[in-house]
Amino acid sequence: MSISKEIILKANQHVKTHQSLVGSDPYRLHYHLMPTVGLLNDPNGFVFYKGQYHVFYQWNPFVTAHGPKFWGHYVSTDLVHWKEAPAAIAPGDWYDKDGCYSGSAAVLGDTLYLFYTGNVKDEEGNRESYQCLAVSNDGIHFEKKGPIIHVPEGYTAHFRDPKVFLKDEKWYMVLGAQTIEEAGVAVLYSSPDLEEWTFMGTMAGSGYHGLGDLGYMWECPDLVELGGTDILLVCPQGMEPEGFQYQNMFQSGYIAGKVDYIAGEFAHGPFVEMDRGFDFYAPQTMEDPNGRRLLFGWMGNAVESDVQQPTTAFNWIHALTLPRELRWENGKLLQTPVEELKLLRGQETLYKNVNLDDDEQLRFHGQVFEMEMSIDRMEGPKGVTLTIQIGESKLIYNQREGVFTFERKSYYMPNQESRHCYLQELKKIRLFKDTSSIEIFLNDGEEVFTSRVFDDFLMDEVVFETSGEVTMNLQKWDLNRVT
Ligand code: FRU
Repeated sequence: MSISKEIILKANQHVKTHQSLVGSDPYRLHYHLMPTVGLLNDPNGFVFYKGQYHVFYQWNPFVTAHGPKFWGHYVSTDLVHWKEAPAAIAPGDWYDKDGCYSGSAAVLGDTLYLFYTGNVKDEEGNRESYQCLAVSNDGIHFEKKGPIIHVPEGYTAHFRDPKVFLKDEKWYMVLGAQTIEEAGVAVLYSSPDLEEWTFMGTMAGSGYHGLGDLGYMWECPDLVELGGTDILLVCPQGMEPEGFQYQNMFQSGYIAGKVDYIAGEFAHGPFVEMDRGFDFYAPQTMEDPNGRRLLFGWMGNAVESDVQQPTTAFNWIHALTLPRELRWENGKLLQTPVEELKLLRGQETLYKNVNLDDDEQLRFHGQVFEMEMSIDRMEGPKGVTLTIQIGESKLIYNQREGVFTFERKSYYMPNQESRHCYLQELKKIRLFKDTSSIEIFLNDGEEVFTSRVFDDFLMDEVVFETSGEVTMNLQKWDLNRVT
């Protein structure tokens, strides 16, 4: 048996041994994808193949820390109900012995192709990386084919996360890389058949085309076209905070413009952050059979305080975001939860034409719910401040300043921390609360805040308060458990 097959059996055994402890965690999420045990990070290989959605994820089964990654695997027909599949690929061969790092999937004929980065480190910590291929004809069992791309001259071994896509009947691969001058960049390859790849060069990067300093390494790029605009999603490492922006350890955002696929060049605008919350990174997209551009992100980020997350006591950590749909409107990338999530809805409560003012509050109980609030009127002599307390956290909209704030304070994270964004007008809030997460979509996806929250379970009240007057409609649904 090959080393990596043996290690998959070991991981399966580990899942069995720990599943009752993992399952007993009250913070286990009810409708988000999580690792069966151990650590999850980036979504990988998000694809539609033979009638099913597949999403893979970076997985370290054995500990709740980063290490040699496997590709964990979930399958679904509706993006809501997911079935766990056996780990697709595992580290152990000479070209991926320290991890099958992030990558993507492509379908050609009957075959599902996985592209990933083989991570190799020697005793001194020196790194090598190889872009590797694995194939399958049933979407469940994968055969590794080994390296297909070696790091070209001019780049360091931080060369990873291949995202493969079809454009005008030709295959392309965009990768995250670091130049030998230590600038974070995205590079392009092209291929007629998914096997022979030609290097096209750097298409965008820190310091290129007036971008300014965008860090020392770009991770997990993705290149999509929406309504005629090319959008490069990318995760720069090493950016400094700037006002309300770039507050997390590593950033996730996009650059929009037009790619010249013959010359391999990208004329583009500035870098725009994608999510304002504490826990969002390494998103990956796919186009589904209905032509929708769908996205999963890692509901986490690189933080040293990971160990403080209470789920580690139950031998698991991190989750994926909800699947989202992307749209491009008026020069902005909009993100909304996929339509199918309505399947989760249970009991509905309606609050019609509610008037809130300094004396009048609205409250309900709930820990796992979806709510949609549309605001008809906001008026006050000094502008309105709307505060929504959810468990121990708060959402605050300050109308006069045009600032939306998410304040996270919870039992396990006693230091109150805030994230903000500018928002000229607040028209709508759609929000998904799970046992230990919150995803907030403002104005139909114009701004999004994604975060883990670990509230005391006794704090299950949701309270709406205002200074000034607010007229609104509110719908709230209890959500069913599917994970
Ligand atoms: C991003 C990342 C990728 C890498 C993977 C390893 O979170 O660092 O660049 O391939 O995670 O797990």
